[in-house]
Amino acid sequence: AIDSNFEENREIVDEHEGHDVWGPVDEPEQLGIHGTHVAVDFDICLADGACLEDCPVDVFEWVDSPGHPESEIKADPANEAQCIDCMLCVDVCPVDAIDVDAG
Ligand code: SF4
Ligand code: F3S
Ligand code: ZN
Repeated sequence: AIDSNFEENREIVDEHEGHDVWGPVDEPEQLGIHGTHVAVDFDICLADGACLEDCPVDVFEWVDSPGHPESEIKADPANEAQCIDCMLCVDVCPVDAIDVDAG
């Protein structure tokens, strides 16, 4: 599962589509965590798609991740500022790849 303390345990190494990327990153096998308020661990995401289907405000968009061992697309929190903290995505992800900081 995603480390809910990633903000303490990781460092921001990049920016992607207006959100932070938390390392370590070693492309294409290791992609880190995308987003902060809505954080997706790209190294855990296996492209189930439930988060894209269920988010009521369309926070997620697919991005390509060719060469990653888990999946060749990832759910990117492209619109994390729109999140309404419903926690649906956290509940439906089968591999617990998403952390939403609703505190
Ligand atoms: Fe979307 Fe709700 Fe997840 Fe926020 S908590 S990203 S609104 S499903
Ligand atoms: Fe990935 Fe979980 Fe969404 S596996 S596509 S973050 S439901
Ligand atoms: Zn991203």
